[in-house]
Amino acid sequence: MRIDIITVVPELLSSPLNESILKRAQESGHAEIYVHNLRDYTDDKRRTVDDYPFGGEAGMVMKIEPVYRCIEKLKSERDYDEIIYTSPDGITYNQHEANRLSLMKNIIILCGHYKGIDYRIREHLITREISIGDYVLTGGELAACVIADSVVRIIPGAIGDEASALTDCFQDNLLAPPVYTRPAEFNGWRVPDVLLSGNFAEIERWQDEQAWSRTKSLRPDLLEGVER
Ligand code: ADE
Repeated sequence: MRIDIITVVPELLSSPLNESILKRAQESGHAEIYVHNLRDYTDDKRRTVDDYPFGGEAGMVMKIEPVYRCIEKLKSERDYDEIIYTSPDGITYNQHEANRLSLMKNIIILCGHYKGIDYRIREHLITREISIGDYVLTGGELAACVIADSVVRIIPGAIGDEASALTDCFQDNLLAPPVYTRPAEFNGWRVPDVLLSGNFAEIERWQDEQAWSRTKSLRPDLLEGVER
């Protein structure tokens, strides 16, 4: 899978995208992530990417031309399945959307900045607008990292232990059961006996019950319409 991220602050992206799972997924060829500096698509000496809004409101707006040039260049090189814009007024991101994106071949993520982007870009070029939650970030870069991380880790084969991604929280609309590791007792705090029993049918039943009860008490909204 290929992810092209367009931003006015490329520095914000380099570290999160080049560590741990994302680094390994790129090294093993499961993912390619490219960061494009919007200023490289300007045509003035000062490399201007923003301008005052029509109508005289406060704040600056991302200009249409550099974004248009960058997206059109990428589109001339390959087909894109989705051109995403990160913005607090997009659809709220979740595991279902991460799963959907992970099946795609090429996606663009355009990071919003300033007061927003000239709306014509959203009307004519963007195919999906995503928010990572009901709060406002300084820019869409952190949102782009969240999307890239959550998508790349579930590309089949991208993380060594595939079963691990499938048992993540939310994969079946349930929170994950508690996990423990050695020592079996610390400070008088014991790991549940069932996990030490070696009885895998019992362990699975316990994990299933824990997932249900934790979801029911912590996130009942996830169980709406789900029959047990
Ligand atoms: N840009 C600013 N806030 C954002 C949010 N909550 N989600 C996605 N992009 C954003």
